[in-house]
Amino acid sequence: MSEECRKVLRVLKGETISPPPIWLMRQAGRYLPEYRETRSKAGSFLDLCYSPDHAVEVTLQPIRRYGFDAAILFSDILVIPDGLKRNVRFSEGTGPEMDPIDVRGIRALDGKDVVSHLAPVLETVRRLRAELPVETTLLGFCGAPWTVATYMIAGRGTPDQAPARLFAYRERQAFEHLLMLLAEISADYLVAQIDAGADAVQIFDSWAGVLGEAEFEAFAVKPVARMIASIKERRPQAKVIAFAKGAGYLLKTYRQRTGADAIGLDWSVPLSFAAELQREGPVQGNLDPMRVVAGGEALDAGIDAILQTLGNGPLIFNLGHGITPQADPENVATLVRRVRAQGG
Ligand code: CP3
Repeated sequence: MSEECRKVLRVLKGETISPPPIWLMRQAGRYLPEYRETRSKAGSFLDLCYSPDHAVEVTLQPIRRYGFDAAILFSDILVIPDGLKRNVRFSEGTGPEMDPIDVRGIRALDGKDVVSHLAPVLETVRRLRAELPVETTLLGFCGAPWTVATYMIAGRGTPDQAPARLFAYRERQAFEHLLMLLAEISADYLVAQIDAGADAVQIFDSWAGVLGEAEFEAFAVKPVARMIASIKERRPQAKVIAFAKGAGYLLKTYRQRTGADAIGLDWSVPLSFAAELQREGPVQGNLDPMRVVAGGEALDAGIDAILQTLGNGPLIFNLGHGITPQADPENVATLVRRVRAQGG
């Protein structure tokens, strides 16, 4: 028994499994009381990410509670800017912050020590593979260059990433240099996660939806394609999920242009379009996280619609974005039960 029993990995290789395997983005997080407890013991959020003992524990919590088919490494996409010495901090209530970068700052960036700075995260991956049930797929991840760059430029989260969009129009050369540097570091980091025991990796482009068509091609597609080519050149068996949130119609050619094995779908993707995308390969998503907060009929109907439309092809059941802190852990239990019973 080994990889053959890992259902999420099998779907990533193109198989249809019924009922579909399930995991949830942000499945380790503040909606779980046991997470909040470990979090309060760990110190800062980055301390939690860089402590293998605590990071292993919070990664395993949702697996113990719900028996999800995949565990996702507990870390954050902003450990890369942290490794680039951008003074990243997570303050209570304000979200992530770091020193905003300018053209000079971009020219001064040095990526060579980032992966060694992330050694504790790789240690977490190694321990997880040893501790997880053999049938649980272990997912590694990182942010896509565009999404990580938006935080590096603004120095914080913003409603529409206007600072990064403006910077990209004004300072195109420096901006593309930043994206390609992030692509190179991130590909090395994902290869290191795979070597440490991750079965597959996911690239989160959470801010892809604010880009126009030409910018989507240049800032979202091109760097992610570069990353995936670099990973597959070195690790030809590696499986990659690419999640471009809010990309809408631009998802039509996203899989083919990036070389991703599977594509993540947010809840705004119509199911008829999702079915079309599934004809070309595995898809993951797209339940609205607010349905998990609402529970009841809203949750049941959302689950059933996805299973009905996408259940006969390669599907990894998931949300269309991360689960939110106000979700009731009981609703998550209901969700898992209903998917495993193949709808109502
Ligand atoms: O999915 C998982 O369970 C694994 C862990 C994970 C976290 N962040 C933990 C986290 C993953 C995969 C991420 C990815 C991430 N981080 C993304 C891409 C996915 C997405 O949600 O769009 C982004 C944009 C970030 C950056 C980030 N980290 C923000 C904007 C915030 C603040 C918002 C918030 O939810 O608090 C974080 C903090 C963060 N990352 C928390 C967790 C559990 C909450 C912090 C805390 O516990 O105090």
